[in-house]
Amino acid sequence: MTDRSRVVVLISGRGSNMASLIDAARAADYPATIVAVLSNRPNAKGLETAAAAGIATDVVDHTAFDDRETFEDTLHEAIASYTPDIVCLAGFMRLLTAGFVDRWRDRLINIHPSLLPSFKGLDTHARALEAGVKLHGCTVHFVRPAMDAGPIIAQAAVPVVPGDDADALAARVLTAEHELYPTALALVAAGRTRIVNETVLVTTDADAPPPLMWPRPA
Ligand code: GRF
Repeated sequence: MTDRSRVVVLISGRGSNMASLIDAARAADYPATIVAVLSNRPNAKGLETAAAAGIATDVVDHTAFDDRETFEDTLHEAIASYTPDIVCLAGFMRLLTAGFVDRWRDRLINIHPSLLPSFKGLDTHARALEAGVKLHGCTVHFVRPAMDAGPIIAQAAVPVVPGDDADALAARVLTAEHELYPTALALVAAGRTRIVNETVLVTTDADAPPPLMWPRPA
């Protein structure tokens, strides 16, 4: 399978989305292979998961650098040493400068736990509850310099149900994330996405689902 896209995943913590990408890439017909997992935190739990799966791991500890540019230069070199086609952010908790983002333009993707452009930033689940939305979800998008901005590749919606707190809602969204990220990465890796006027055109044979409605009529 030499024609698979090479993917480096950047994490900062638990790495459950990273694990979902590693799992998906085990399938013989998956169009990408995870060549390395890099973390800015030496104690990120996901590093153990990746190593146990036989994937190369590396740490670029941001606290060891005096400024963001030097950190990002080193991170860039570490990533580039694996010659990836695509770089996936999966719970990578450092803001990246335009200088870094532009070096990986249209090859850097991220997962965010909301239906963008709603609820950019942190605490998305608590803010969704506060806003009273009935559908919440997650988004995979190409990264642009502004925070949680960039052409949207794929989204998954989940209902907000009576009695939800932020943790319950986060768990429901996370389950959707684990399905969405491998799906979106496959589309990019297989060349089924094209960015036109900063929106993503996706080529898919799948039928569009019926309207997602919540609450449903009794
Ligand atoms: C996920 O909710 C992801 O959407 C957000 O950070 C969280 C990371 O979780 N960017 P994990 O490390 O993938 O388990």
